[in-house]
Amino acid sequence: MDARDLARQVRAVGSANGLRSVRAAWRRQRTDARDLPRRGPERARVPGAAEGADPLPGGGLVRFARSSLRVRVAAGGAVFCGWDGAEPEPSYALAGSCPDADVRAVMEPDKDGWRVVSERVTVMVSRHGAVEFRTPGGLLLRKDLPPRWWDPLGSRDGAEPRWVQRSETAADAAVFGLGGRASGPRLGEGSYRLWNTDPDGTFEPETDPLYITMPVQLVVADAGSHLVFHDNTWDGRVTLRAGEEGAGSGHDRPGGCEVRVDGGPLRYWVIPGTPARILTAWTALTGRPALPPRWALGYQHSRWGFGSAAEVRRVAAGYRERGLPLSAIHLDIDHYEGHRVFTVDRERFPDLPGLAEELRTGGVRLVSIVDPAVKEEPGNPVHDSGAAADAFVRDAHGGTVRGVVWPGDAVFPDFTDPRVRKWWGGLYAERLAQGFAGVWHDMNEPVSFAAFGDATLPRSARHALEGRGGDHREAHNVYGLCMARAGYEGLRELHPDNRPFLFSRSGWAGMQRYGGTWSGDVSTGWPGLRASLSLVLGLGLCGVPYSGPDVGGFTGSPSPELYLRWFQMAAYFPFFRTHSAITAGRREPWEFGPRVLEGARAALRERERLMPYLYTLAHGARQSGAPYVRPVWWGDPEDRKLRACGDAFLLGDALLVAPVMEQGATERAVRLPRGLWYDTATGEAYQGPGQVLLPAPQERIPVLARAGSVVPVAGDDGSVVLEAWLPAAGRTGGGLLVTDSGDGWAEPRTERFTSRLADGTVVVTRDGHDEVGHAVRVRGAAAQ
Ligand code: GLC
Repeated sequence: MDARDLARQVRAVGSANGLRSVRAAWRRQRTDARDLPRRGPERARVPGAAEGADPLPGGGLVRFARSSLRVRVAAGGAVFCGWDGAEPEPSYALAGSCPDADVRAVMEPDKDGWRVVSERVTVMVSRHGAVEFRTPGGLLLRKDLPPRWWDPLGSRDGAEPRWVQRSETAADAAVFGLGGRASGPRLGEGSYRLWNTDPDGTFEPETDPLYITMPVQLVVADAGSHLVFHDNTWDGRVTLRAGEEGAGSGHDRPGGCEVRVDGGPLRYWVIPGTPARILTAWTALTGRPALPPRWALGYQHSRWGFGSAAEVRRVAAGYRERGLPLSAIHLDIDHYEGHRVFTVDRERFPDLPGLAEELRTGGVRLVSIVDPAVKEEPGNPVHDSGAAADAFVRDAHGGTVRGVVWPGDAVFPDFTDPRVRKWWGGLYAERLAQGFAGVWHDMNEPVSFAAFGDATLPRSARHALEGRGGDHREAHNVYGLCMARAGYEGLRELHPDNRPFLFSRSGWAGMQRYGGTWSGDVSTGWPGLRASLSLVLGLGLCGVPYSGPDVGGFTGSPSPELYLRWFQMAAYFPFFRTHSAITAGRREPWEFGPRVLEGARAALRERERLMPYLYTLAHGARQSGAPYVRPVWWGDPEDRKLRACGDAFLLGDALLVAPVMEQGATERAVRLPRGLWYDTATGEAYQGPGQVLLPAPQERIPVLARAGSVVPVAGDDGSVVLEAWLPAAGRTGGGLLVTDSGDGWAEPRTERFTSRLADGTVVVTRDGHDEVGHAVRVRGAAAQ
């Protein structure tokens, strides 16, 4: 136990669940000491020399003295590599079945080994097991050195080989992703753990890991970009080292990456291409992002500690009376009866369905928190039905694993069991009957409070793992993902006509199939604001496009200025929600004085105006995996200055948003991608690439529009207006509008617009016809 643990233990004793969490920590430690396979003598192993290769669909199998490597190019261009007999399936990341092999890709002998040539990438396997991925033009994207395993000696039940794989990337490579990392978006040198973790109440940019870890890296370099995904759910670490051009005697030092994992298969996918193509292929592999209902793109207000129906009404009225749009209110654990999931405190919320109906009439939905832990208490119907269904995680001796969460002693559904998912999904009927329109999954890393050590389940706890059986070492990182699946499938079955609205604090590769996520307990302060952009960008590049922070931060009280700057930034994020802890100050926009109120009003108005564009982006994410919020290098990955820029973002193709991240700033430098850009506030034109200084008065943050873009916005009467930004001389432009009923599963309608300059005026056409069908508003310098 280190000093930090000790401090935690002392703190815990004083809190409500304190003694319990001390006991739980000891219990957890004892269970693992008893049941976790001990690490004994091991033998190191490398593949050894190649002995031959057999062609197989999409590539082949190379046989080494002490291992084998399967290389398989899938239709769509993703390359699978599996060592030691590892196959693509079973996998929690893949959506449905593994894509077919690209039969045009064939393994052939090469001078130093074997080669598989495919449309987008050439894979070379050396005689000692190094694997290179090169562009069709021969440039090196990635070189994986021969892996190394440590095999347990003798037969010890559950002992797994550990492995490490070192790789080299280009000297100029920049790495993004690894799930939600607060220190990004570009990941610096250092070690990043793969173990979903609640940072215990709050986090800063340097806190690592957080709630969502994923062995997914997007690597961007001049030679080309690629995504690499190590499909392994075990605890591990990714260590990155920056490369250096002309490092020693003029030679480049490559970028370095080391993946080290405590067990499970060594298998990975490499997807080469442009960022847009990579995200399309990645979400073809792991599932396209769920499309949120349209209302979930509106502004939402949440708070831990609303306390009563009267307080909820008061907050809703506050927005209404000030003419501020509000789409949803979220109820946290304090609306439960004694913190029991799927219950309502009827004293404080005597008629929740009535309240939901009343709010709904005013256009406000209710969203409910759902925690996985079930209070261990005979007579609690959720506990009893779960126990009857044998739903709770057990230890190696068949005893139920007990932990501590908000309701006190608690047990944990095993979401890796399809039967349990079905049971759990059925429980959402109670939430729907209470009038909730969406769910918010929390504490699903999973958390079990512990006065010391890892605040989760014992590593030896048993899990079904879809019938294969295994323990928490393998199941931990997919616990939240499987809970999301249970909730999503339950909601779909209960309300087949509605698109589920679900977001989850924890998750893993593929979680976008079921919904989105949010920052978790980001600390209140300028570093927290910065971290929240890093999370949204990084998750988007891992295929999870719908996310956003607790606006204003989770803890404490932001200064009026910080609150407003956070609000202004988040107004351009897919998930736009204020939320805070029970001990934190207020977060309603009118609590910070008239100036902030007017600034927030302007941001909310702009959000409403952009709804047709945001909704189009939501459909775009669904169709192609492209995140709504993109790094500024998205279309220019070869621009190194853009790669280094982590303080601005693109919203779709058309807009560049430059949030203010510094106290007192009233202007800021903005790095522009190539092309012509207009400051949307002043109409001033700026030529990229390059850096410009833009005004950022407290009332607004700089937002630029790309010349030529056609942005669908809401006009004053709610009808769609096309905002056509003047194309640069000699250029054309365009945009999209996707519409549907806002919910349900009907096919959306897509309209494609192009714009060009004719005799100094902008002409917009729709799908090749002059009849556009919407009002057009021309904007940009010459339109002033
Ligand atoms: C966790 C969540 C936070 C929530 C709180 C109480 O800390 O991250 O959003 O308010 O639990 O449920």
